[in-house]
Amino acid sequence: MTKTTATAHTNIALIKYWGKKDAQLNLPTTSSLSLTLDKFYTTTTVENSDIDQLIINGQMADPNRVHHFLDGLRTELGDFSPLLISSQNHVPTAAGLASSASAFAALTAATTRHIGLDLPLTTLSRLARRGSGSATRSLFGGFALWQAGTNDQTSYANALPTSNIPISLLVVEISGLQKKISSSDGMLRAMTSPKYEQWVHDANWQITAMQTALQAGDLTQVGQLAENNALAMHALNLSAKDRRFTYFTPQTIQVLDLVKKLRQNGLIAYATLDAGPNVKIITHADQAAYIQAQLHQELPKLRVTIAHPGPGVSYEQ
Ligand code: DP6
Repeated sequence: MTKTTATAHTNIALIKYWGKKDAQLNLPTTSSLSLTLDKFYTTTTVENSDIDQLIINGQMADPNRVHHFLDGLRTELGDFSPLLISSQNHVPTAAGLASSASAFAALTAATTRHIGLDLPLTTLSRLARRGSGSATRSLFGGFALWQAGTNDQTSYANALPTSNIPISLLVVEISGLQKKISSSDGMLRAMTSPKYEQWVHDANWQITAMQTALQAGDLTQVGQLAENNALAMHALNLSAKDRRFTYFTPQTIQVLDLVKKLRQNGLIAYATLDAGPNVKIITHADQAAYIQAQLHQELPKLRVTIAHPGPGVSYEQ
């Protein structure tokens, strides 16, 4: 029986997606901009089956979300057989790093190829968005810009022109002891913050400023914009009127303080954080190993991985 396999890498948003104007279609309130990473990815194989089934890292998983997603594809692309989906996540999900971006990008690519379609990346991006918003950007290598758009047809990502900015990202894994709040729920709550309108306003100019900084190869500006954007996102969570919350743990704060100290010592180090306690540090490729060593010295228990810009979606023949 024929199988089709695709690999997609995860991405970290430098300007975040944090709010939906349509929760069914994952239409975002703002555009967002990301860097795809080399170290973390998902490989997904699909084959025909009797019912839609999902196996993640060798274990049967709840197929509900995937089944709903595939039904959306069936409606748009024409009916196709139920699928057995086997996904191998090379993303440390247990440590709270998101895998939904790489997972839905790989699933969209594998499924459409499996049913004999060869769709442009922007169409794959649009379809992957319905599985998880951040998946919209994971089809592309390097930097990607997800244009918010106004409807299902116009909301998708594109690769940004290649930037040879010497960027590295240190992924600092902090295990979250607190109960997880999903991105979807977190966004809903954040949108009740009195600061939300300001967030949308700022994201609009930050998107343009980030592209300018990338083109100019200005890593300090890239880092500053990304850190400001991320901290503003987390400030929304803390100031939500509906069930305010935070993803930060005491260790998150420790790492943020260390990042500030590294900067005071003249290094390029800026932090960004997603829907969890882990910190990603943006730095110059030449400084990454030194910063990793500093982290190890001050916080020896934390695992730190150095990642670089990664590739777009690929297929196994
Ligand atoms: C903080 O893509 O996980 O990582 O669309 O509900 O699946 P859903 O949300 P998801 O949200 C990611 C949020 C973020 C920022 C970002 O990646 O832009």
